[in-house]
Amino acid sequence: TPKSYTEPYRPQFHFTPPAKWMNDPNGLVYLNGKYHLFYQYYPEDIVWGPMHWGHAESTDLLHWKHLPVALYPDKLGWIFSGSAVIDKNNTAGFGKNAMIAIYTYHNDEIWKAGKKNTESQAIAYSTDEGKTWTKYKDNPVLNNSGEQDFRDPKVFWHEETSKWIMTLAVGDKIKLFSSPNLKEWQEESTFKPKDDDSNLGVWECPDLFPIKIKSNGETYWVMIVNHGDKAPNGGSGTRYFIGDFDGKKFTEIQKALWLDYGTDYYATVTFSNVPNDKKIVLGWMSNWQYATKVPTEVWRSAMTLPRELNLIKQKEGYRLTQNMIPQFDALTKSVFEQEKVVTPFEKTEIDLSQAEVNFTMEGGTDVIISLSNINGELFTIAIAGDIVVTDRSNSGKSDFHETFTAKPQVMPLGEDKINEVQLILDKSSIEILLNGGKYSMTNLFFPTEQFSILKIISKDDKPLQNLKIKSVARTWD
Ligand code: FRU
Repeated sequence: TPKSYTEPYRPQFHFTPPAKWMNDPNGLVYLNGKYHLFYQYYPEDIVWGPMHWGHAESTDLLHWKHLPVALYPDKLGWIFSGSAVIDKNNTAGFGKNAMIAIYTYHNDEIWKAGKKNTESQAIAYSTDEGKTWTKYKDNPVLNNSGEQDFRDPKVFWHEETSKWIMTLAVGDKIKLFSSPNLKEWQEESTFKPKDDDSNLGVWECPDLFPIKIKSNGETYWVMIVNHGDKAPNGGSGTRYFIGDFDGKKFTEIQKALWLDYGTDYYATVTFSNVPNDKKIVLGWMSNWQYATKVPTEVWRSAMTLPRELNLIKQKEGYRLTQNMIPQFDALTKSVFEQEKVVTPFEKTEIDLSQAEVNFTMEGGTDVIISLSNINGELFTIAIAGDIVVTDRSNSGKSDFHETFTAKPQVMPLGEDKINEVQLILDKSSIEILLNGGKYSMTNLFFPTEQFSILKIISKDDKPLQNLKIKSVARTWD
């Protein structure tokens, strides 16, 4: 683990690989006081290539220790995305509490020859808390049925049927498989939502888990699906369905919702085996449209901050909320507080490159928030009527890809009125969480100088409340 990172744009409290290319979070799992983060990694270049699983661990999900690469490509193929479980009952026979990774082999030679059957599922195990790994001798454990895209297994133990359940992305649908031992898999069902005529590119990185509504104790199942293209503001994005799971089949009870409306939140999946059944997600903070082109040279890409998911029930239906985990507060320090804020509000010469900004307002107040720097570059957030719009068209470097600033990003609010704003800013990103995490937008930007001016304008000069600006920093060992 480096002492600190000093390159321009290097996130200071988001996870990044020490060097080279990273995409999806993989194998998110908790064991014996530590969270493990594996990730799609190409250690030889800053663009995507033959994939490995990089590895890091953390006790608080915020301070990460880098560990050696866990899985290397082999003759069966590159190591694509997947998950990890703790085998408490030793169902696979690798040892009680073995950490088992379930991943996709992607065979690039078959792919280049233009044939199908390029992808299959395989397992590897570790009996030393993820330090060393052994690939199972009879891999692959689940062969392709002839589909071009057949990948990203996410596995959980289903108590009621005493089976492992795997969700797998297959073309533009999700297939569910079951297994008593992670080695023999049986197809159970296909999930393809009704009335879903949207052409959202290739489906990737699914997840399926139960979640309880805290206020009334009802439990529903959530199916997360990541989509390679045509997310609301272009490129890749994450959707979810709420429904029921009977041990074999998932049935949705309402239309899909997008988990985040920004362009930079993808391949989002949950940690498994987390104490108290908490649901914590991590996403890859980029977009396939321009991920390989963003202006960094030593490393490429960061993860979002970990977020805790909760399910709420409203008159419009069920919805997930996303919030910072409680331990995030330990990274913050108050630098400015004002109970009643008269607008236009302006604060200059503050470090917004590692900051958290919070305020509340009367629901339905229209506001424009801008972050800018001494070079006149700015990022704006407009909360107006029933939409939120973010604009990074003049936020700094953007000529690396035409889609980066093609248009402002829009998030619909329906009947909802925004009364609570939280912004979390690192060197090259913002995570916007509104109304207790009911709405989320995640964006990258690359200003040539750090943002140091905060302006907030409200319609009819309506006052705002409880403005808090905090600095955010992580300690390094
Ligand atoms: C999603 C994805 C996965 C795949 C991996 C390859 O970003 O395309 O479907 O397993 O990345 O790196």
